[in-house]
Amino acid sequence: MASILNVFVSRTIMLVTACFIMITAFFMKKTIEAVRALAHSSFSDAKYSHDWEHTQRVHKLCMHIGTIEGADLEVLEIASYLHDIGRSYQDRSKGAVCHAAKGAEIAGEILKDYPIEQDKRDNIIHCILSHRFRNTHHPETLEAKVLFDSDKLDAIGAVGIARAYLFAGELGARLHNPDVDPYKVKSYSKNDTGYREYRVKLSKVKDSMLTDEGRRMAIRRHAFMESFFERFIKEHEGLI
Ligand SMILES: [Fe+2]
Ligand SMILES: [Fe+2]
Repeated sequence: MASILNVFVSRTIMLVTACFIMITAFFMKKTIEAVRALAHSSFSDAKYSHDWEHTQRVHKLCMHIGTIEGADLEVLEIASYLHDIGRSYQDRSKGAVCHAAKGAEIAGEILKDYPIEQDKRDNIIHCILSHRFRNTHHPETLEAKVLFDSDKLDAIGAVGIARAYLFAGELGARLHNPDVDPYKVKSYSKNDTGYREYRVKLSKVKDSMLTDEGRRMAIRRHAFMESFFERFIKEHEGLI
């Protein structure tokens, strides 16, 4: 009789646990969908270099790297959708406001409305706060490292080159100016060109990767970018 009771109790516990996991997964799926829709709506007047398509590419990279690295994909889904939600504040202030800090603040308010465990919520906010290249907050968790690498990967390689020139065009910058030192050019000026972005920032990105898969992908993207700009300079000089 006791053994029948033990089997019944253990099976009931298993059933309740399974139901709890399924319900939790259902609510998390709904939360991710709602956060995605909310994040998407906040990009309606975004500049093309940092638009919703960038966020979607970062999301795909997060899922790829996060799966290989064994990260929490639920945290990464939400963090990637919200990571640039503060971008318009930085653009409007011409760089005075840090979009990572502003985004973490906005995300903290948004996430209060959703049933997310406190440790996941804290991790999401940390991911957003620490995703920026020029930042004093360093990614501490695996998920923050995956988001950091994914965001940086979208700035290099073929997509990175295209985005650099898109951004320069948005600023009204010229195509190229061989007569200025890229390191002495002011950000957001007419000499803030795609080449200047490459020399000052993008050429260093591969050395800042924090995960093995991110590093592997960055090396390949960097090699393409390096050969592109070598050729660009030669063509600009009329040599080839
Ligand atoms: Fe960002
Ligand atoms: Fe981003």
